[in-house]
Amino acid sequence: MKKLMSRPTNGLHGCLTVPGDKSISHRSLMLGAISHGQTTIQHFLPAEDCLSTLTALQGLGVDIQRTGTTVQVTGQGLHGLRPASGPLQMGNAGTATRLLAGLLAGQPFDSTLIGDASLSQRPMERVRQPLQLMGAELELTAGHLPMSIHGRNLHGRRSQMAVASAQVKSALILAAIQADAPSTIVEKLPTRDHTERLLTAFGAEVATAADQRTITVQPQPQLIGQPVDVPGDFSSAAFFMTAASIVPGSRVTLQRVGLNPTRTGLLRVLQRMGGQVQIDRLANVGEPLGNVTVTAANLRPITLTAADIPAVIDELPLVALLAATADGISRISGAGELRVKETDRIATICSELRKLGVAIDEQPDGFVIDGRPAWQVKDSKLVSHGDHRIGMMAAVAALRLTTPLELTGAAAIDISYPTFFEDLSRLLPKTEVRV
Ligand code: S3P
Repeated sequence: MKKLMSRPTNGLHGCLTVPGDKSISHRSLMLGAISHGQTTIQHFLPAEDCLSTLTALQGLGVDIQRTGTTVQVTGQGLHGLRPASGPLQMGNAGTATRLLAGLLAGQPFDSTLIGDASLSQRPMERVRQPLQLMGAELELTAGHLPMSIHGRNLHGRRSQMAVASAQVKSALILAAIQADAPSTIVEKLPTRDHTERLLTAFGAEVATAADQRTITVQPQPQLIGQPVDVPGDFSSAAFFMTAASIVPGSRVTLQRVGLNPTRTGLLRVLQRMGGQVQIDRLANVGEPLGNVTVTAANLRPITLTAADIPAVIDELPLVALLAATADGISRISGAGELRVKETDRIATICSELRKLGVAIDEQPDGFVIDGRPAWQVKDSKLVSHGDHRIGMMAAVAALRLTTPLELTGAAAIDISYPTFFEDLSRLLPKTEVRV
């Protein structure tokens, strides 16, 4: 049980550089592994999820050396991975699992992927089905992990995606680079494009049409190892942007944050809600980058629908928190994907915010919040449900309140942000730090 920090007298203040992006850290390792030559990754995120990818790739015969946040990958080429000696343990990492499914589907050996209790309940049919249409052979256990992958020769084709998911899209792209002919992938809605950007930097031919959701992939590229400078994770910075917005008196700058527009929906949400956001762009590192300063503000309610969701998918717990402070009714719909995240996030957001006295109605594909500037705490014992983002949402919510709160399952935060509480304490006055 962790005691959470309650409202700091004068708000949160200061500058913070959050750790490297989780999505880009996973992908840099994988692309480094299948390239020729060396890939040096700077600002890698050494959190549990990315370490699952690192260990899995080592299990596939890739030499990877890590010192802190610097990682050296010795590429094996597209045809140089070796069969692992046993099942690959993916832990909690959905991204690692689904991307590796696409990569391993085209390798000339069998692999098995397993995961923790949460990952073992997440849907895998969404990757099996489209990969099978490319000639892959994947066996699931009632639609879930364990997943057995029997490597096959893959065929280029046109895939129409049934879900808006960057993980599924990336699995198809990683299969497509191993196929015998070009492939076209049509997304339901545009999602994060880190795989496309990185693959292009490594020498592949991946083109996105003007509609932002039709991707053409040329097969069998000669990938060449590259230096990768990973931007700060927007999804980690988002917790402090939200805290700065809802804790009166705050002003916080997040430095070197990734500003890929497929990820920054929360900035647009904040602006639409009347939040005070200043963006100072820095030189691009293959991904847009910048410093973001957020100042506390009184917020207006907001309505989000399906088309808004992909760019804010991991920040919806924070959107709920922002809406909970905004006077009036906010409606979030078209977000059914939240039900199949690390937890059923519609249920876990509702359960934790209700404890704080927030009027939130659970909907099949989202939630409706009747926001109020002041909440009446009903239960001070919050739980992460084993979900890193729910744990961090709880810690940010506590900063709005004077009632002391406790969090069970804070260790889950290590999945994406092991130094979260240290970083938070840097924004608090020394005399008040108790996190
Ligand atoms: C991710 C894609 C998203 C996101 C996840 C990371 C990625 O998942 O929620 O945290 O790195 O591709 P979906 O593809 O399931 O939407």
